[in-house]
Amino acid sequence: MTGGGPDPLEDLLGLEASEARAALEAMGLRVRQVEADPSPPRPEAAGERRAVRIRRTGEGECELMTAQRAQPSPSAARGPVHVAIIMDGNGRWARQHGLPRALGHRAGVRALRPVVRACPDLGIKVLTVYGFSTENWSRPPMEVTALMHLLVEFLRREVEELHRQGVRLMTIGDRSALPEEAREELGRAIERTAGNERLTLCLALSYGGRDEMVRAIRRLARRVRAGELEPEAIGEAEVTQALDTAGLPDPDLIIRCSGEQRISNFLLWQCAYAEFWAPDVYWPDFTPEHLRRAVETFAQRERRFGGLRTDG
Ligand code: IPE
Ligand code: IPE
Ligand code: MG
Repeated sequence: MTGGGPDPLEDLLGLEASEARAALEAMGLRVRQVEADPSPPRPEAAGERRAVRIRRTGEGECELMTAQRAQPSPSAARGPVHVAIIMDGNGRWARQHGLPRALGHRAGVRALRPVVRACPDLGIKVLTVYGFSTENWSRPPMEVTALMHLLVEFLRREVEELHRQGVRLMTIGDRSALPEEAREELGRAIERTAGNERLTLCLALSYGGRDEMVRAIRRLARRVRAGELEPEAIGEAEVTQALDTAGLPDPDLIIRCSGEQRISNFLLWQCAYAEFWAPDVYWPDFTPEHLRRAVETFAQRERRFGGLRTDG
């Protein structure tokens, strides 16, 4: 880097090589990319992002030194594919800081970005986040309105960045209950990111496990009435397919922030064999480091699915 005042390229440190390259090219710079630091990553480095280094090499030119990408650690190899988070504790976080609840929710939205970013390096392919439950409609109208505004703001601000990161956005829950503005933004975001495969970010909005099951039962009943399906042909696979989560694997790990230990109507069918982790941290304070710890804890659990220990 050249000396003399802050260099705008400094802002790019911490990005991944492909992201930094795209940003440099967008600035009109020619980029020469070189590999550096071929040493194998430390096993504990899964999920860490090693900074790129950028050096101006001439007028309109720069060199991008890429650090070798951290490989998932052995524990991450047995890690959860689908992680679901109950993002709880925004209100208590706000009270702790002497702030109104709405600012707790705002801080909660802010906490999501680095957690999403950390997922692919931890081997996570699907991240489902519980943003608003069917029961949350019973909160004071002002709080509900604030939450809906935050959703629209989040979508407007983050979708392009999510798209750049290869994130596909989807929702579960009763979308028809959401305000029109939110439905429109969601429609746009889902369409924009539909082709991405690096991570699926599933937003649970106006979501309740029981409501989802009722809607699934109605879907199946309609097919029976139409003569497309025999009642005896309905098995677990047909129910799974009729749920909002059709096509997603079941969650391997459910995290509930704020220390509460209940499921609050989240993924009731899908959580049959999920591992549960409840860190004593309010959601706005939840970081990728907590996520890494969750993945590590998960890797040490023995999942038996009702069978016997594999070592006898
Ligand atoms: C979670 O935080 C966000 C939503 C339910 C929308 P809370 O608002 O439930 O925060 P606490 O539980 O009151 O601290
Ligand atoms: C669960 O949290 C729903 C979300 C985080 C969106 P709640 O705060 O609504 O759950 P309870 O009322 O404590 O069970
Ligand atoms: Mg709560």
